[in-house]
Amino acid sequence: MAENSSRRLEGKVAIITGGASGIGASTASLFHEHGAWVVIADIQDEPGRALAVKLGRRASYAHCDVSVEDDVRDLVDATVAEHGRLDIMYNNAGVLDRPFGGILDTSLADLDRVLRVNLYGAFHGAKHAARAMVPRRQGCILFTGSNCTAIAGVATHTYTASKHAVVGLARGLAAELGEHGIRVNCVSPYAVSRTGMSGLGKMSEAELEKLDDGMKVLGNLKGRVLKPESVARAALYLASDEADYVSGLNMVVDGGYSVVNPSMMMALAASRSNGKI
Ligand SMILES: NC(=O)c1ccc[n+]([C@@H]2O[C@H](COP(=O)([O-])OP(=O)(O)OC[C@H]3O[C@@H](n4cnc5c(N)ncnc54)[C@H](O)[C@@H]3O)[C@@H](O)[C@H]2O)c1
Repeated sequence: MAENSSRRLEGKVAIITGGASGIGASTASLFHEHGAWVVIADIQDEPGRALAVKLGRRASYAHCDVSVEDDVRDLVDATVAEHGRLDIMYNNAGVLDRPFGGILDTSLADLDRVLRVNLYGAFHGAKHAARAMVPRRQGCILFTGSNCTAIAGVATHTYTASKHAVVGLARGLAAELGEHGIRVNCVSPYAVSRTGMSGLGKMSEAELEKLDDGMKVLGNLKGRVLKPESVARAALYLASDEADYVSGLNMVVDGGYSVVNPSMMMALAASRSNGKI
């Protein structure tokens, strides 16, 4: 537990969508540990409620389908009615649409499915959070993007389009809401180990370990995997007063993957092993 003096969100009121699993659950736990009141919002009622019970006082669960504007409006209204305000809105809920495939294999239904949650959900969350935050002239809106906003070819077209749209939304909001003292930022992770998206629940422990081994090799930071807790710590920084002048940032949490092009070093290594240089 963080010491009282080092709690970075003491007394803040935070909503975390997609809070029942993966990055959202990890962030809810970390925000709570740092003194926040957390509202875990999700469509997975059982794990969402269980997490709220586990965290205890200062935690609650609310069923909310972020693709439905009325659900998000009610979530924000209920939070403000109970706590008097909303300090942090973390729009984290998201879905993957389909296995990798080219544009010719991608249907409008695939695009629609992913946009409804990833983009419309983010839009609803931001809009209703702004409604609650603007009159108080303070607040922090966060989104989970993806490192596919910083490098091409790592996700499906539909998912990539949805996350670029989220980053665009965040930047536009940073411009609009700066006038009201509200900060808006994104956290954009590389492939995260053991979240619902990486197949947790569907894969055996042996399969998950194999996946982790692959990620340890593929990543730019060798020998380690990105865990939900690392993404949660980035969100904690952006939500805390330590980031009090940070707005409009797409914080890519990918160990440098999106800024490194390994092809030159791979070619050199291949030439060396062939004895060509
Ligand atoms: N796992 C990764 O590798 C990875 C990488 C980059 C970005 N992301 C993003 O991170 C975020 C969290 O994903 P995660 O990896 O923790 O996966 P996850 O599946 O563990 O968590 C996503 C949560 O969102 C919830 N959700 C889905 N649709 C919803 C809806 N309509 N309304 C409310 N909640 C809904 C799910 O029930 C789930 O609890 C997503 O936005 C995802 O796109 C994940």
